[in-house]
Amino acid sequence: MNQKIYEGKAKILYATDDPEILLTHFKDDATAFNAQKKGQIRRKGEINCAIATHLFKFLETQGIPTHFIAQTAPDRMQVTAVKIIPLEVVVRNIAAGSFVARTGIEFGTLLKYPIVEFFYKNDNLGDPLFTEDHIQLLELATPAQVIQLREMALSINNFLQKFFSDRHLTLVDFKLEFGCERSGNILLADEISPDTCRLWDDLTSDPNQKIMDKDRFRQDLGNVATAYEEVLARVKL
Ligand code: C5P
Repeated sequence: MNQKIYEGKAKILYATDDPEILLTHFKDDATAFNAQKKGQIRRKGEINCAIATHLFKFLETQGIPTHFIAQTAPDRMQVTAVKIIPLEVVVRNIAAGSFVARTGIEFGTLLKYPIVEFFYKNDNLGDPLFTEDHIQLLELATPAQVIQLREMALSINNFLQKFFSDRHLTLVDFKLEFGCERSGNILLADEISPDTCRLWDDLTSDPNQKIMDKDRFRQDLGNVATAYEEVLARVKL
């Protein structure tokens, strides 16, 4: 059995015989509000692993370097070992979630241009919003890296917005994580899935039915697994 090196809320990372390669196991566990709400979503591990695999492969074809190597089982992915930059990089196209609470901009407003936000990955602090000065002070990333993260996040947004809209899904917002290879190269890491994106179904105007992502779990809207399955079916198109 591979040695477990880290267990997060939705994934477990295992070592492999090669120190440059890790194995990610996607769990069915779901958490929200900094793990104050806990549950399980049927087949989520397999669904998210399949969605993330598809999206990483797509982004690679568009020139975005990712940690993805191969899907080795329905809920397992081989990835390049990287040092994770402790920032959650959020891109927003439409006002929702914490952005509404922070800015007072009405929920559902189409933003004039995509907004990039950085949050410090720190559960004890509740992942606070960080300015570039905070990032420099805590030496989480260099100024050049912050510029690169922002550019990569915005180009990923361009590629994914088009990818999802071709599948009748609106990409409202999403969270990315990045890691550094030993060479200093920055790779897109972690996952992209309905756990980490807000996706709205363009094929219905019903505000509850539109929601195809973890907000169904956060807000107890029901049919969470069905929505995730539907996202996978469309991503595969
Ligand atoms: O909660 P908030 O509106 O800041 O979330 C923005 C986006 O980032 C959402 O798509 C949410 O699913 C994602 N996110 C995440 N992991 C977190 C916080 C937010 O995937 N810890």
